[in-house]
Amino acid sequence: MKFVNISNQLECIFSRSIDKIFGNIKTKAEITQSKNKQLCDYQCNSALKIASIVDDNPLNIAKKIISQIEDPNNLLSQIDAISPGFINITLNKETLAAELVSILKDDRLGVPQLIKKLNVVCEFSSPNIAKAMHVGHLRSSIIGDTIANLMEFLGHNVIRLNHIGDWGTQFGMLINYIKIYHSEVIESSQEADLEQLMEWYKKSKAEFDQSPLFKKRSQEEVVKLQNGDKESKKVWERICEISRRAFQEIYDLLDIHLIERGESFYNPYLSQVIDDFESKKILKIDGGAKCVFLDGFKNKEGEDLPLIIQKSDGGYNYNTTDLAGFKYRIEQDKADRIIIVTDIGQATHFQMCYQACLKVGYIDPSKVRFDHVPFGLVLTPDGKKFKTREGETERLIDLINEAIISGKELLRERDVKNLDDAARILGIGAVKYADLSCNRVKDYTFSYERMLKFEGNTAAYILYSFVRVESIKRKIGVDVNLLIESEKIALIHPSEIALGLHLRRFGESLAFMDEELLPNRLTDYLFHLAEKFHVFFRDCHVDGTKEQNSRLLLCELTGRIIKKGLNILGIKTMDKM
Ligand code: ARG
Repeated sequence: MKFVNISNQLECIFSRSIDKIFGNIKTKAEITQSKNKQLCDYQCNSALKIASIVDDNPLNIAKKIISQIEDPNNLLSQIDAISPGFINITLNKETLAAELVSILKDDRLGVPQLIKKLNVVCEFSSPNIAKAMHVGHLRSSIIGDTIANLMEFLGHNVIRLNHIGDWGTQFGMLINYIKIYHSEVIESSQEADLEQLMEWYKKSKAEFDQSPLFKKRSQEEVVKLQNGDKESKKVWERICEISRRAFQEIYDLLDIHLIERGESFYNPYLSQVIDDFESKKILKIDGGAKCVFLDGFKNKEGEDLPLIIQKSDGGYNYNTTDLAGFKYRIEQDKADRIIIVTDIGQATHFQMCYQACLKVGYIDPSKVRFDHVPFGLVLTPDGKKFKTREGETERLIDLINEAIISGKELLRERDVKNLDDAARILGIGAVKYADLSCNRVKDYTFSYERMLKFEGNTAAYILYSFVRVESIKRKIGVDVNLLIESEKIALIHPSEIALGLHLRRFGESLAFMDEELLPNRLTDYLFHLAEKFHVFFRDCHVDGTKEQNSRLLLCELTGRIIKKGLNILGIKTMDKM
């Protein structure tokens, strides 16, 4: 069966009618979910808009639209024009119920097939070598992973890129320092961890500022590294390896997968970027540096803000690398869509890079879509900014582990199969869900207490709904897969109808998330699903009633959609709790 989201189906039906009556207007029907669920399921609001174009009152227009409605698939049970010109739409619950059974038989749970499979480059996480991964990188990892999961579920070809900061003049100091004081780690014979690296980084910086000789040697190291000197490169690789190990520990804990393609990867392509801009004659020299000036970007003083792409000393910078990144992703990865997840502080940087790419012709906006996905700060419960202090790698791991420990405390009294596994699922799920469920653009308050509540919009509440489904299935003990093949769903009780309607809207919530890249679209959906399920469960007995089979199918579909939804959010489920 081919699924189409209900709102799109309604849009078609109503647009066709509008077209028949007002063919010259060429307007698409505007369909929204009803605010008053008792009254109807959806609304068409187009008559009001049309009334501003044609000479008739909205209510009349609404009635005319209704008179021309064709509904070959029996989607509708009632349509009413109401003052001042809305159309209330009530869906046919038998059709809906039959669709729900088809959704149960569908691997994609009723989410429409793609019209076109895209190459999606999704870049996220991107911590910096020899520095701690901080809460901002944690947010980027969690949000980016969800977006990549969604794109994969929708059926796109997704490349998950970790754009780690592994290049820059600062590595000269560190390489020099390690060569002088800690040559033992170069041969991998001596283990070192990120803590130590950060310590050495600090010391090398201090010596750099004090000793002219150290400074000179460090600068030479940068040149050597850039020219591919074997020995310097070896030290740099060790530095990266040590950092990488610390990052991987966190990715493993979070079960997040990425391909590393750091800044250094783009080195060979940087000079070409300058040539491209030069040949298009869009470079200006400003204070010796090569710059691109773009419309609409001013500094605080109201002066034009330059995008520097080559420094006066001939060196390249963060901007050059990102321009090379765009070019590579378009030309080599054949990206149709590029998504980059970072803190909101980098928004201007990415807007400027994107504009520069349009200007030089790397990106054709009619073919490639670019989204910078910004997110706000992480705050402590007392409203302070989470500080970037040293030793934060430990703290990030600690932060997650702390959630797991708190999860364990909560679960200790409950019936779980394997306490450690369950605590991990709940603790990590809580951290992820708390982040994803608030609008990412806003600052987000990190509170264990809030994220681990069993009531409200939390991972625990959603997980608990899934557990309830599993437990009712165990209790009744029939083979649900057989029921799906042989039984029907009947939507009679208002709580059943509300649940059924919401189950049919899974695809719609994913379509919104796909468009706006807001994971809270999906968490909101799941939260409402869990709420509707609990109301249904309160109002409608399942076990031992004559409606048992139909209701069990509703439970099963709820469970499957919760599981799939949580998986897209990067959260695992458990059967007991
Ligand atoms: N490493 C950077 C940071 O920690 C984030 C990289 C973002 N991505 C990019 N293409 N510039 O802030």
